[in-house]
Amino acid sequence: MSLLFRAGTAALRHRGRPPLRRSSTFNVSGYMPEAASFPGVRDFPGLRALSLQQPDRFWGALGRERLCWISPFHSVSNCDLGQGSIRWFEGGQLNVSVNCIDRHVHKSPDKVALIWERDEPGAQVKITYRQLLEVTCRLANTLKRQGVRKGDRVTIYMPASPIAVASMLACARIGAVHSVVFAGFSADALADRIQDAHSETIITSNQAVRGGRVIELKKTVDQAVKLCPSVKRVFVAMRTENKVLMSNIDIPLEEEMMKEETACDPVAMESEDMLFLLYTSGSTGKPKGVVHTQAGYLLYTSLTHRYVFDYHDGDVFGCVADIGWITGHSYVVYGPLCNGGTTVLFESTPVYPNPGRYWETVERLKINQFYGAPTAIRLLLKYGDEWVKAHDRSSLKTLGSVGEPINSKAWDWYYKVVGEGRCPVLDTWWQTETGGICIAPHPADREAEIVPAMAMRPFFGINPVLMDDQGRRLAGNNISGSLCIAQPWPGMARTIYNDHERFVNTYFKAYPNHFFTGDGAYRSKEGYYQITGRLDDVINISGHRLGTAEIEGAVNQHRVVAESAAIGCAHKIKGEGSYVFIVLKDGIDIAEHIINKELKDIVSQKIAKYAAPDFIQVVMRLPKTRSGKIMRRVLRKIVENKVDELGDLTTLDDYTAVQEIVAGHKLILEKEAKNSSS
Ligand code: WTA
Repeated sequence: MSLLFRAGTAALRHRGRPPLRRSSTFNVSGYMPEAASFPGVRDFPGLRALSLQQPDRFWGALGRERLCWISPFHSVSNCDLGQGSIRWFEGGQLNVSVNCIDRHVHKSPDKVALIWERDEPGAQVKITYRQLLEVTCRLANTLKRQGVRKGDRVTIYMPASPIAVASMLACARIGAVHSVVFAGFSADALADRIQDAHSETIITSNQAVRGGRVIELKKTVDQAVKLCPSVKRVFVAMRTENKVLMSNIDIPLEEEMMKEETACDPVAMESEDMLFLLYTSGSTGKPKGVVHTQAGYLLYTSLTHRYVFDYHDGDVFGCVADIGWITGHSYVVYGPLCNGGTTVLFESTPVYPNPGRYWETVERLKINQFYGAPTAIRLLLKYGDEWVKAHDRSSLKTLGSVGEPINSKAWDWYYKVVGEGRCPVLDTWWQTETGGICIAPHPADREAEIVPAMAMRPFFGINPVLMDDQGRRLAGNNISGSLCIAQPWPGMARTIYNDHERFVNTYFKAYPNHFFTGDGAYRSKEGYYQITGRLDDVINISGHRLGTAEIEGAVNQHRVVAESAAIGCAHKIKGEGSYVFIVLKDGIDIAEHIINKELKDIVSQKIAKYAAPDFIQVVMRLPKTRSGKIMRRVLRKIVENKVDELGDLTTLDDYTAVQEIVAGHKLILEKEAKNSSS
């Protein structure tokens, strides 16, 4: 265990069901203390209307009340969506780490900030706000002493742990920009992200521990650093007692931290200075470094954390996402800590040491809000109810789901079995680019019904619209279209690192003056939103975004592959999997099991294990237009088993290619059926 932590102690109203109302009359100021600033607004819909009609008044009041400023802002918003120019709280200065730690230390230093749920069940470590401040300051001083300056990008490659959270907050304290890279990414993927960010500093740990296995994190960093001559220093924290090879740029983190002071002056940051970069997949092969800034992001995550989950002081908030994803940033770290909450850092897996792990953790830590991914719920559902029922879940108040659509069966099981029919289940829709939850039911509004498996309601300040193919706004209900957001909100991304043009082209060009989400959605008869999935070449594997172009890029590096096309396909547990068609180079003859294994290996090595293709089909040629473009929609239909819906094939170069692929696909399905029945 890390030296520094050794001292630590180990309303729903829902169709067909009776409403759970706590009160029939509704007092906004009781519900939202800050609403004192909005006299006359009496209920949740009233507040939402105000947030859309008078955004500056709404966000200005909340910005002043919820955040602690070094100097006040002079304007609330200054945005031009057409140009992708988004600025909130200009003129204001603040420090995010002060908002997340110091002000709570002042009020209740011994309150638990973090509960590190280590891989080994029962070995949790609790960190108070006072301890978190000390560790963050020591770490910030260490970074400074080793030459890290305001504005420098620091790559953090480690799983959820107090030292990882302190690393993020230490960057915020000194004005450095963190770029957390999911610790499951390969050396190549890590190197790409280090290079794109021009990062000179890496923070990692000697090893990681997950599901009872030791993972050689530092070795992966060593491989990545070989590809990144710009790296000047690698801080290595000790997650295990095992020694690892240290080179002349490696710095033992805890040893250096012990030499430092436990106080560090926070740097005054402008509202629109960068807080972090987070790489996410788009429809090209190159992941984009989504940029979030200080004040708007912090305000939006804290407000959504408070009201979407109905988080109250003293609750234990259990978001089991890894800090390498936006969910971990917003709802493990920034939202809960800004609210002075107690947040769980989950290091393990849903099935270690057995499929009761989540619920055993809920019982032991007395978790009040549990936030996880549909993929894990689907997996656990398969193991049966006994693993859940073996543990006391009476502490649970709300259950959240994020990252991908939650199907009705999983939603129902989550609601009935896990939540015993008493906890609202919140299907929360949002993205790395939106910073925080944008569409979700509102359990804090006791008057509101919850419809299963639907994200439903836009949050304060979120103005969703649906567009047709011609870029016209679709009016009325019971309609589907491209999901856009028509007004800026403080949590939205500000740019793509070093590529503002890509930012503008990706999000603001398709529908001028609107933020385009890349998702399709349906607006129900009642006006509720349901997300129907991506409209671009991004697939969502176990809730993790991945561009099909990234998979193709990796597959094409194999010596025998001439070309490839990756398509998303339905997957019972992962939600979506990937199906890769490959054409071999001329004259190559290779056994199917060998090419399958080698391609899975190469994708794991170039991207990450979770990205490895589920199905690989070798074809003679890909269906192409006469101008040589791969007809992906044809491949998609084949993979979806909708061969009678191939549509207009007049531009297709050679129809026999399609016939051959359909026949090959049938064989793959037959083999799959045989495997799953045996
Ligand atoms: C998908 C994760 C359906 C969606 C916070 C989005 C969802 C992408 C939901 C963002 C949901 C997220 N229902 N789909 N409740 N939540 N998605 O950036 O396609 O990792 O565009 O952010 O996940 O993934 P990201």
